[in-house]
Amino acid sequence: MAHFLDIHKTDKAALRGIIDQARGMKDARGDASKGALDAALPLDGKMVAMIFEKPSTRTRVSFDVGVRQMGGQSMILSGADMQLGHGETIADTAKVLSRYVDLIMIRTFDENTLLELAEASDVPVINGLTDRTHPCQIMADVMTYEEHKGPIKGKKVVWTGDGNNVCASFLHAAGQFGFDFTYTGPETLDPEAEFIELARKQGVNVTIDRNAQRAVEGADLIVADTWVSMHDPQSKRERRHNQLRPYRVDDALMAQAPNALFMHCLPAHREEEVTSSVMDGPQSVIFDEAENRLHVQKAIMRWALDV
Ligand code: CP
Ligand code: NVA
Repeated sequence: MAHFLDIHKTDKAALRGIIDQARGMKDARGDASKGALDAALPLDGKMVAMIFEKPSTRTRVSFDVGVRQMGGQSMILSGADMQLGHGETIADTAKVLSRYVDLIMIRTFDENTLLELAEASDVPVINGLTDRTHPCQIMADVMTYEEHKGPIKGKKVVWTGDGNNVCASFLHAAGQFGFDFTYTGPETLDPEAEFIELARKQGVNVTIDRNAQRAVEGADLIVADTWVSMHDPQSKRERRHNQLRPYRVDDALMAQAPNALFMHCLPAHREEEVTSSVMDGPQSVIFDEAENRLHVQKAIMRWALDV
């Protein structure tokens, strides 16, 4: 079963194929209106269910639009409104949904929910973010980098701030696409040791540098994300802000790496992890990233369904 659970769990050639197909589909659409169908309708007759146990703007809209552009049909389900939120097991939910739909995308908290769903499902499952990883986002980010600057292989990517779920998928991508990865942030918020070790085993040059100014020197890409994720208790907010203030991305930091692009998966908290001047500045490609969620996820769905 071609589940898309994580970047490190997906074959390298498949990952490259997904990005190539996404670019091809994006080019083929050109400036067609958003609701126009693609020339080929690979999802014709297919039904896609999307389960959200957390809020979402980009994932929700981009998956939904993508399904429709490819001629399929989609339904958006809120975890809280399903029996899943009221005691039905994940495995039973997976078996039932498999009788109705061809593909399931889920955004959830605990990674085990995703894994149990995939294990019991008879149809492919796509990870739309867990507390631990966010692979669709980083596929869009790799696509975006390469559109602007060419191959990401051998480049230096610097993650600033919380070594969170999005950071984890960047580390996985470093192993699969072959780029260097630097983390800059406080020790208590380091990326998961297991993922650092895995990346190093795959030959990634992983650097940890507590000094943000030094860490970004020579960077090709600087990335920030919210300091407090959806799964983090709000009680952590104040301490996080105090810890992470030195890692805010501002014009001075970007000036240390004049050739670097700036990315943020969004939603951003302007003037917290990044200034508006950087978000709206010449190095930023944040809205291209958001757009490319659409294109890359269309290719992920095609790969999962083999259509
Ligand atoms: N970047 C991202 O996944 O955004 P949403 O939370 O809006 O889906
Ligand atoms: N790290 C963030 C990403 C949101 C798309 C979160 O999990 O809330």
